[in-house]
Amino acid sequence: MSRRLLVTGGAGFIGSNFVHHWLKVYPNDRVVVLDALTYAGNLRNLQSVEEQENFRFVEGNICDKPGTACAKGERTLITELLQVENIDTIVHFAAESHVDRSILGPGAFVETNVVGTFTLLDAFRLHWEGKGQPMDYRFLHVSTDEVYGSLSPTDPAFTETTPYAPNSPYSASKAGSDHLVRAYHHTYKLPTIITNCSNNYGPYQFPEKLIPLMCINALMGKPLPVYGDGKNVRDWLYVGDHCQALDVVIHSGKPGETYNIGGNNEVENINLVQMLCQFMNELAPKLPVHPSEQLITFVKDRLGHDRRYAIDATKIKTQLGWTPSVTIAEGLRLTVEWYLTHRDWWEPLLSEEYQAYYRKVYA
Ligand code: NAD
Ligand code: DAU
Repeated sequence: MSRRLLVTGGAGFIGSNFVHHWLKVYPNDRVVVLDALTYAGNLRNLQSVEEQENFRFVEGNICDKPGTACAKGERTLITELLQVENIDTIVHFAAESHVDRSILGPGAFVETNVVGTFTLLDAFRLHWEGKGQPMDYRFLHVSTDEVYGSLSPTDPAFTETTPYAPNSPYSASKAGSDHLVRAYHHTYKLPTIITNCSNNYGPYQFPEKLIPLMCINALMGKPLPVYGDGKNVRDWLYVGDHCQALDVVIHSGKPGETYNIGGNNEVENINLVQMLCQFMNELAPKLPVHPSEQLITFVKDRLGHDRRYAIDATKIKTQLGWTPSVTIAEGLRLTVEWYLTHRDWWEPLLSEEYQAYYRKVYA
């Protein structure tokens, strides 16, 4: 069947990579992006597809009339979009996504991640019920491994049955949204699926996150700030592999299920930054400071900093046949090359708002 997708947060990092993936692989499907264009949303991420007839961008907030409007049957931007575009699949990326910002200002995280997800879910439920509850409809909720909390060096990796123990306002708000999605399946039988993924990296990632921040700072000859002792561990996944996993889940995943997605690439932050420096030294013709390792600076730790994340992706591998295809060395090389050749993309992002944020976190 050809699908009609509503992709929330499609102007952000993973969302825009997903839109490119989907339009390339499924040219007969329709893709509508709903995005509020916060500081993290960028229409330039979608520039190459904006003229395609089967693509539409709509600027709007998933918190549209929070709480009651949908339940009262009032028409809102979201209910209108679902109906006019005859949407059968929601791929829900829209979120406040950065842990450090959630520490500085948690309110927006509760609003978008919890209230926004609720608003979207309820609108989709009414739409789905109005269509006679078709079982091939999907609400795919894109979530994070951070809901499971932090691991010690010897703990086994997170599975789908690991109890939730979120530690930051970001992960707590994502956990809240996961619970709502789960409840909508249990109560109303809405065909929802949740994915919990590890750290992504690749093109179009906003330079507040570790990998793009390090690439850009190295290119500008600025310090490379490593939190604490640099021994926190993350499980890195190239964004293209995440998009492929979501594709498989949409087509073959079972409603009501959760699937963990991870790269099986556990790396200590300091080692990752050193790998990035090596690629920078090799690929960047004129670095202001060479070798870039000289820029590595240990800074004050993140409050409540989770020590280690690791995903056990056995379920999606054995049940749906997905495995990652890009190694960490290949993925980091591709990513460094992308930031090197897309200065015109990232330079405008270093705005006054960004500088103010940067001063607050790294003061
Ligand atoms: P991002 O911050 O790059 O993009 C978020 C997008 O959502 C932006 O385009 C923004 O404008 C939009 N948005 C924010 N609030 C909105 C609102 N109220 N209404 C409509 N649009 C809104 O995020 P990302 O890194 O691409 O993450 C996408 C999703 O994947 C998030 O839900 C995140 O929790 C999840 N996730 C991210 C990672 C990762 O490593 N980046 C890993 C696992 C899961
Ligand atoms: O695990 C999935 C999560 O990965 C997603 O849900 C989040 O949306 C995404 O932001 C990411 O969260 P992290 O906090 O792990 O990512 P971040 O890039 O902010 O940091 C990665 C690690 O690097 C973390 O241990 C903190 C550290 N760090 C980060 C920055 C920005 C530094 O040492 N220095 C930095 O300047």
